[in-house]
Amino acid sequence: MKPPRGSIPSFCCAAVAVAAALGCREAATVPEAAAPNAAPTDTAASRSFNADRFSRRPLPAEMTELGRALFFDERLSASGQMSCATCHDPRFAYGPPNDRSTQLGGPHLKDVGLRAVPSLRYLQSVPPFTEHFFDERTDGSNDVGPTGGHGWDGRADSKHDQAKLPLMSKYEMANADLDTVVAQVAHGPLADRFRATFGSDVFSDPTRGSVAVLMCLEVFQQSPKDFYPYTSRYDAYLRRKLELSPSERRGLALFEDPHKGNCASCHPSAGYHGAFPQFTDYGFNALGVPRNRRLPANQDPAFHDLGLCGPERKDLDVAHHPEYCGEFRVPSLRNVAVRRAFFHNGIFHTLAEVMAFYAERDTNPARWYPRTHGHVEAFDDLPPAYRKNVNVEPPFGGKPGAAPALGKAEMRDLSAFMKALTDADLGNE
Ligand code: HEC
Ligand code: HEC
Repeated sequence: MKPPRGSIPSFCCAAVAVAAALGCREAATVPEAAAPNAAPTDTAASRSFNADRFSRRPLPAEMTELGRALFFDERLSASGQMSCATCHDPRFAYGPPNDRSTQLGGPHLKDVGLRAVPSLRYLQSVPPFTEHFFDERTDGSNDVGPTGGHGWDGRADSKHDQAKLPLMSKYEMANADLDTVVAQVAHGPLADRFRATFGSDVFSDPTRGSVAVLMCLEVFQQSPKDFYPYTSRYDAYLRRKLELSPSERRGLALFEDPHKGNCASCHPSAGYHGAFPQFTDYGFNALGVPRNRRLPANQDPAFHDLGLCGPERKDLDVAHHPEYCGEFRVPSLRNVAVRRAFFHNGIFHTLAEVMAFYAERDTNPARWYPRTHGHVEAFDDLPPAYRKNVNVEPPFGGKPGAAPALGKAEMRDLSAFMKALTDADLGNE
């Protein structure tokens, strides 16, 4: 059993801690782009070992705008029809624009992906992956286990590494290699701007060219206005600019109550050291999400997407860590209400279904899992040996037939609270 991660803040601690942290910085007048944790020190732009390899030192603003152009550039895919934004659509918090569980990609845009597309907002403080994370929020001495990294399984250490994955993945942009992508840029309409930004020799060596391309994508994704504006109703509430509605307030209390939703134990809702909450602790958990039988990969009964334990991720010593199998990184819940595909395999399509799964995964397993040989096969997407990895803390637990952890009105309040996490530019009234 892993020791618990982070303390579970009560409703009142959360409000007080954040108000105190913000109060001393006159948060009410903080402009959008200067939200409390708007300046991570380890930005791509600040990593000079990268910037120094160019004959001209690129300015962050130039890289941001080049990255933006690349992000929307369909020429960067083998099909010529897919950009990063095809899957990571800004109108949907840089998440998927439709309700497909996973998106289509590949050379002919016919290959069905394995995993739901995550939102790219609020990833600016994801720590690099580590198997041993010592959480300062407790006393710093507890090893809370695997934490951080990009992707559902944390396998990419930076957005720079991450950007390579879709560019080459046969399910996504399907380029043969990075050189192909760089050649495309070198001969495309952005080439002159690249030379003006990084020096006229930027494309003379393929490594330099690829670092420039990946850095621009990464720097763009660090742009506060686009990727972490902190403009939700909840942020306004933390800045003491507005009151939550009664339903949102009840939802927040359930979210933080360790005996009810207990959501904040994995999706922290309280600020920390003056930073606004990210609604993820960047940790990994197995929730026993039902198998998505519509995904082509799952037509093979022997195939299992085990998250940390592979098959996408291959670098961890899982023979000695069978407890990793089935664990996925806790996603941020900011802007979750604009999604229409939830969990790593996109099995659910409404927040109401997700709430019901949390409330009655264990008390009503027949609703979620298939019946095989006369009994309900709970946690059917995990081989039996790994089913004990599934988290059973509240809101989970309870015997089949017992009352669900959350009633209908409570689930509605929780959904109302999650809607208060939608940024203003995405239709938040
Ligand atoms: C075909 C759809 C598709 C395209 C196109 C695509 N992605 Fe993704 N992206 C995904 C999926 C699916 C994941 C989750 C992958 C996983 O966990 O294995 C992901 C994950 C990510 C992540 C990690 C997010 C996190 O939560 O840590 C980043 C960053 C990212 N993509 C950036 C990009 C960039 C930059 C591009 C363009 C170069 C791009 N993506 C193109 C589907 C796509
Ligand atoms: C034990 C840690 C834990 C607790 C407690 C927890 N979550 Fe999660 N949550 C996760 C993990 C891990 C995932 C991703 C699981 C996966 O895809 O396999 C997730 C995913 C989600 C998603 C889907 C997000 C997306 O982008 O697909 C929602 C919505 C969500 N949680 C809301 C809640 C709410 C509301 C509660 C309280 C009722 C809660 N969570 C409690 C760990 C937790």
